[in-house]
Amino acid sequence: MIVRRTAAWLDERFGSNALLHAALKKIYPDHWSFYLGEFALYFFMVLVATGVWLTFAFDASSENAYVSVLALADRHHPIGYVIRQIHHWAAVCFVAAILVHMGRIFFTGAFRRPRELNWMVGLCMLALASFTGFTGYSLPNDGLSGTGLRIAYSVALSIPLIGRWAANVFVGGDDFPGAQLTTHLYTLHVYFLPVAIGALLGLHLFLVIYQKHTQFVPDPEHVVGRRFWPDYALRTLAALGATLAVLALLATFFEINPVADYGPYRTWIVMNGAVPDWYAAFLEGALRLGPSTELRIAGHPIPPVFWPGLVLPTVTFLFLLLWPIIEARLTGDRAAHDVLEPPSRVPLRVGVGAALIFDGLLLTIAAGDDQTAATLHVRLDTLVWAYRILLFAGPLLVGVLAARIAAEMRARVPAGGAPPPDVVMLVRNDRGGYDEEEPQAG
Ligand code: HEM
Repeated sequence: MIVRRTAAWLDERFGSNALLHAALKKIYPDHWSFYLGEFALYFFMVLVATGVWLTFAFDASSENAYVSVLALADRHHPIGYVIRQIHHWAAVCFVAAILVHMGRIFFTGAFRRPRELNWMVGLCMLALASFTGFTGYSLPNDGLSGTGLRIAYSVALSIPLIGRWAANVFVGGDDFPGAQLTTHLYTLHVYFLPVAIGALLGLHLFLVIYQKHTQFVPDPEHVVGRRFWPDYALRTLAALGATLAVLALLATFFEINPVADYGPYRTWIVMNGAVPDWYAAFLEGALRLGPSTELRIAGHPIPPVFWPGLVLPTVTFLFLLLWPIIEARLTGDRAAHDVLEPPSRVPLRVGVGAALIFDGLLLTIAAGDDQTAATLHVRLDTLVWAYRILLFAGPLLVGVLAARIAAEMRARVPAGGAPPPDVVMLVRNDRGGYDEEEPQAG
């Protein structure tokens, strides 16, 4: 009764019934890869919910931040402990889910006209999500995060002309660590960045609904899939349940970021095993492989960290941002596409994707080059040079090989799907052997 009355009340004012009806009838594609974006969405929702809770327990001053996080990292306070653990696990899974979702968009060509803008919005969310992760990781002011911040400060200092100003604004003082550093990180992490991601996410999902989903079914005239209610709604609810279950298990059994082991940040200590969260490791790897010579441009010194710390991520970001335009230029295909392509049909895309993944992985592995050198009993210098050579030669080899394999697969499978299977009928003959017979129609 109450539900019916409330529905009637809302309908009278907003015409909500028609809207609800349309939403429940909306068709969603029936392919597992379309749930990847939803996992990212659910990780984000968990991050916001647990993050709001954590703001009540966290002290955002440089002096007390570490002590307040120590209390949250104490297993004797199980609620705070589990919520902080879920928050951090959700952060690392969020970036992973975004990358896997982006991989599906890239390799199936879902970014092509008319969805180029949504690809760009997505890429901005990826950058913001990584930066939000970094600012959150840096909040506790422990031994690990302080070291990471010091590196970020040095990279900011290396920007030509405005470096000193940018670094001082970032840390809120004239030197590292500035008096306002934790306050700045907190403002970015709790207000600005999540709100920016939320706004872009709203635009992203609006564009998905407005432009409609792509689909694998080769029927550009119709949207083929399942209705939101009950098919898709129940499936996506199961995806939400799975997300929560995985996070609960990870948070309970695998402790992430045990700040008590690292101690508070001391400017004169750099810990040997210091590592960032996984998604920032490629930057650390790039810094380790980068050149050590200082260039001078128009009399201004450019510190070596500028190239791997800023130029490399910026160029990669711009290349990916513009990929829909670059690919359209290279292939001459500027038509609108609502039907997805299996990756094997586009060798160019497979080659470029494989090359990028190779370098991303290589740089991530290079972040632990000291540990690897010690384990393999090789000189660190030798390993660094091997990585440097692989950084350029590897993507070429891997990219060409992946493109060749895709071209081979494309040649075997004609457009429009797999060929009918070769059926051979064997019939026993009167000599005890077998004769092949043409299969009968029907
Ligand atoms: C905060 C991170 C993100 C969330 C929560 C998110 C969420 C979603 C969801 C729920 C969908 C609809 C289902 C699907 O097609 O998988 C979608 C579609 C899409 N996303 Fe994302 N996404 C994110 C980041 C990205 C990134 C990094 C990119 C690419 C750079 C991207 C590009 C797209 C495109 C082009 C579509 C339309 C695809 C189609 O219709 O097939 N998204 N996203």
